[in-house]
Amino acid sequence: MKKNILKKIQKLKDKIKFHDNLYYNLDQAQITDFEYDKLFQKLQELEKQYPEFKTKDSPSQKIPGKALSKFKKHTRLVPMLSLQNSYSKLDIEKFYQKTLKLLKTENLTFFLEPKLDGMAVELIYEKGFLTRALSRGDGYTGEDITIAMKTLKALPIYIGDKAPSFLEIRGEVLILKKDFERINKEQELAGLVPFASPRNLAAGSLRQLDPKITASRPLYCFIHSPGGRALKSLKTQKAFIEKMHSFSLPAFKISSAKKLKPSMELCCLVKNVKDIINYYEQMQTIRSKLDFEIDGVVIKVNDFEKQKSLGVISRSPRWAIAGKFTPEQGITQIEKIKLQVGRTGVITPVAVLKPLTLAGVQIRHASLHNFKELARKDIREGDFVRVHRAGDVIPEIAESLKKKRKTKTPPFKIPSVCPICESFVVENGDYLFCGNSKCPAVMENKLIHFASKKAMNIEFLGVKSIKKFYKLKWLNSYSDIYDLKDKDLKNQEGFGKKSFQLLINSLEKSKKTTLARFLFALGIPLVGEQTAQKMSDEVYKKYKNKKNLDILSALLILKEFCKQELESVPDIGPIVASSFIRAFKNQNLIKDLKELHNKGIGFIPVETKKEVLKGLNFVITGSFSFPRSKIKSQIENLGAKVSSQISKKTSFLIEGEKPGSKKEKAFRLSVPILNYKEFLRKFDLPFD
Ligand code: IVH
Repeated sequence: MKKNILKKIQKLKDKIKFHDNLYYNLDQAQITDFEYDKLFQKLQELEKQYPEFKTKDSPSQKIPGKALSKFKKHTRLVPMLSLQNSYSKLDIEKFYQKTLKLLKTENLTFFLEPKLDGMAVELIYEKGFLTRALSRGDGYTGEDITIAMKTLKALPIYIGDKAPSFLEIRGEVLILKKDFERINKEQELAGLVPFASPRNLAAGSLRQLDPKITASRPLYCFIHSPGGRALKSLKTQKAFIEKMHSFSLPAFKISSAKKLKPSMELCCLVKNVKDIINYYEQMQTIRSKLDFEIDGVVIKVNDFEKQKSLGVISRSPRWAIAGKFTPEQGITQIEKIKLQVGRTGVITPVAVLKPLTLAGVQIRHASLHNFKELARKDIREGDFVRVHRAGDVIPEIAESLKKKRKTKTPPFKIPSVCPICESFVVENGDYLFCGNSKCPAVMENKLIHFASKKAMNIEFLGVKSIKKFYKLKWLNSYSDIYDLKDKDLKNQEGFGKKSFQLLINSLEKSKKTTLARFLFALGIPLVGEQTAQKMSDEVYKKYKNKKNLDILSALLILKEFCKQELESVPDIGPIVASSFIRAFKNQNLIKDLKELHNKGIGFIPVETKKEVLKGLNFVITGSFSFPRSKIKSQIENLGAKVSSQISKKTSFLIEGEKPGSKKEKAFRLSVPILNYKEFLRKFDLPFD
């Protein structure tokens, strides 16, 4: 009897291994995932029943747990190559001359593009649907990151019925510089290691097994080249990019302007080397003003036939070259180290530098982050330092050149009191804070933040005025700002009748805002724009009468949220939750909020999402922890149709537990399958 079981297990193992090889290594699956899963389940069941037959080499040991820490791998038909790099105008000129010579021509058109510094991906659309996404891997074999890629809002899952039956394209996934900064700050405050670069963050986010984490990271994707099997009818790179636009796939637009601007129109078609060099130089100057990191430009022969005839040399194509930018760094001397106090009371050392110019921008200051970092890098006043400027972010000191240090410069002393109010300081993790909640620097910076564009957007209340009014003791709370109209402003320097009126008008205008902006304006530590938006969504979920939410009702709801409830909100971790709870325990803030309410600050009603699924067809299968009718009406309320049968016209199958034969049919017809959470994420719908 047991012998039979053992035989059965062995047979199943062999079968699974055979299909694994077909699927992972040869890309030639003979059975559907559904059939595969069935084999797998059977093996797991038997092994559970007869643990004595469970061996370490069993395919069941790869999934889940240990195996879930691995991605499926797929080998591609046409490898993803790398580009040959060049770092100078001369190298680019050499490439140009050589290419002309090889093609025995005098006239050649080149397509120029930014070289994105992200993570390479390959996407496969079948019958218009995104069916597979692969990382670069070793160029030949990539990891299956389909689920993660499906959570990207910038990437359509369906590209329409005009799409070819098979489309293989390549691109780059990246994260905006500002999001990188924000996420890294949160990482640091949560005691986690910050990501080394936006590229690492993008890659790290995609290689998450939990798509929830990927979905929480605002990733972008830009398509830049055809894959192995794509649109044979297209003749040029320019036509390829235009085709991508016609499918609403994200790709840079083509610029016709002589002078490039930091926009999305960043590709160019040129006919001579002068224009290539000009593009390379212009991109270098606008580089720091772009929202994302680029590390150079890519110069491609535009004509695909000509690309083919030039071919490949080792692992790089002969038809393209990367014109990389020289690193944005230089050496200067620290004049002194000054201390800054931010709106959260954090005290940061900032290096005042002898001015130097990096990538066209003059640098006077560099952040030193915190005193631990200062000590670790052993940076002292008077030191010669290597400064680098990654994109638009605040320049950083990479290292101090200790050999150039004059003897006996003392290490920088960590302050024992706040440099502004001389109160005691408090250490929290790597950071030092002023212990006085009423520290003038804290209040002044909070007011500046409150009035700023992304917060209450009080257009004509600038930093200078806030500083002046604060000194005059007119502004001791946020609500005091709305009393400025009663102050003797006209006698203040720089305040004529006109500017007075402008200020009053902008104060009035700012009174009608959104809850998200308002929460962000309060300057609660760790509550950035996105967190504020998420919190606002939660409040509206609890508050059914969307029209009349006011500060007092919002406050009641926010105070009601117990910690656990807050932590269950997507993207709000325990540290952010505690910060929120602490803020709403502060009686001064509560008093100020009531004052703001009395002064007429209120919320414009939120727009409810409408028809975001218009034109799509859904089928639902399997069982859920709630009635299926709930999803059905949710989908229908958003403008889509729900049918009971899978067909070629089905846009998505939403699967629950034990999906059954519909799933199998969806596989056969290449209909994308999402579970309920993936569905919510894909269409940016709130989680319940
Ligand atoms: S075209 C060599 N265009 O750079 C294959 N690649 O070093 C042709 N990259 O793997 C690639 N921006 O991930 C191309 N505008 C762009 C690019 C780009 C970034 C990446 C890509 C490629 C790597 C090659």
